[in-house]
Amino acid sequence: MVGITFCISCLVVPLGKMAVVNPTLVCAAVILLSSVVNAFVEDLDDTFKDRSTDDVWLVDFYAPWCGYCKKLEPVWQEVAVELKSSGSPVRVGKMDATAYAGIASDFGVRGYPTIKLLKGDLNYNYKGPRTKDDIIEFANRVAGPAVRSLPSKQMFEHVMRRHDVLFVYIGGDSALKERYAGVASELIVYTNFFSASEDVLPKAVGLPELPAVVVFKDGTLFTYDEYQDGSLSAWVNKERFLGYLQIDGYILYELGETGKLVAMAVVDEKNPTEESIRLKTLIQRVATEYRDHFSRDFQFGHMDGNDYINGLIMGEVAVPSIIILNTSNEQYFLPTEPVETMDQLLHLINSVLDGTAQAQGGDGFFQRIKRVAYDAKTTVMSVFRSSPLLGCFLFGLPLGVISLMCYGICTAESDDGADDMEMLKRDGLTDEEEEEEGQGQAMELEGPGEKEEEQEEKSSTDKKVD
Ligand SMILES: *[C@@H]1O[C@H](CO)[C@@H](O)[C@H](O)[C@H]1NC(C)=O
Repeated sequence: MVGITFCISCLVVPLGKMAVVNPTLVCAAVILLSSVVNAFVEDLDDTFKDRSTDDVWLVDFYAPWCGYCKKLEPVWQEVAVELKSSGSPVRVGKMDATAYAGIASDFGVRGYPTIKLLKGDLNYNYKGPRTKDDIIEFANRVAGPAVRSLPSKQMFEHVMRRHDVLFVYIGGDSALKERYAGVASELIVYTNFFSASEDVLPKAVGLPELPAVVVFKDGTLFTYDEYQDGSLSAWVNKERFLGYLQIDGYILYELGETGKLVAMAVVDEKNPTEESIRLKTLIQRVATEYRDHFSRDFQFGHMDGNDYINGLIMGEVAVPSIIILNTSNEQYFLPTEPVETMDQLLHLINSVLDGTAQAQGGDGFFQRIKRVAYDAKTTVMSVFRSSPLLGCFLFGLPLGVISLMCYGICTAESDDGADDMEMLKRDGLTDEEEEEEGQGQAMELEGPGEKEEEQEEKSSTDKKVD
């Protein structure tokens, strides 16, 4: 308010003497006006460390030079305005993480922009799409209690309609309930946790044993079984996805944490051929009809286009086709013959499960070398594709300089008579000297660069001998 009054007075004063409108005053007014709108987003500095635990905070840690941060800025204003107007207790701030690097790193900021919700000592990363609605949904979910109780049948039906995946603890106080609360406060960033008494659930939901933790999704429910499913948090992590998903790079990355194999159809969504519709339908059917068989080990879905997957496996996947990925070790499985029927798909899935299918890729030593080479190749190719001239300059220039240097070194060495004499002596080794040579080799192993140089020297000497 003070800002606005000040601005108006700024504008009014020059109005009196129209001819001499002072541009600096107008500028000041504009800046002040925008800072009034900005007021919903608090600019945080090094005093924040001490007061961060007083309230629930949603903070954008940014760097002034980062493009994604600039893109987020208007969204961040909207988020702040909307949270304020909806009466949310969440305070919205932003911090220049380059100016307050120490504090930012205390909060675990490693990239820009980093969006975090800070709730007491807890600190949650937001990793989803940077849109207003997604961020607000995240803030509301994470800021509230991790486990919300469902007091009535109506409430239960309401949340069932709103969420595709819903975890519910059913029963009274127990050790399981405490563990459930712990898991919920850790994984609230990903999904929704509720608790209810048995009589709130529909009659059809008959549970053999109470207390229980169940997940409602895919039109059915799954019950957590301590003996089969391992730790509760691992189980929640596995089950927080729908049985069938549209998979993109980000989801694939998240699926990596579940330890499940990912079986998907790679299709072209814009121009779906009959073949790609058939493959997609087959995967969808396996996901529902064979849920009890495979849902423990497999995540099903489809991916639009093969760009991402080609980069992942460093090869070319046909579109449409079916591929099974092991995200834990980066291995993948392709059908040896085209999959046309359900039986063929079941055969492929079973052969991966029982280990008879031929795995490709992996995260072994040679695959990692291949990865470095592949990444270098794609970078060079993408530069050349977007701007051939720049490519020539970027890669041609250093190559030219390096070859000139090599040429210079080679010619300089062969001109040096003393060095050549050394080499000639070595060529005619006596038995005694051979031992020394052995030691020399051990040293060469440590420095491969030196070895190359020596070989170069040798070849230039050979020429001289001729
Ligand atoms: C997937 O990778 C993990 C980790 O290496 C391995 O234990 C598991 O057996 C693999 N699964 C299949 C089906 O190959």
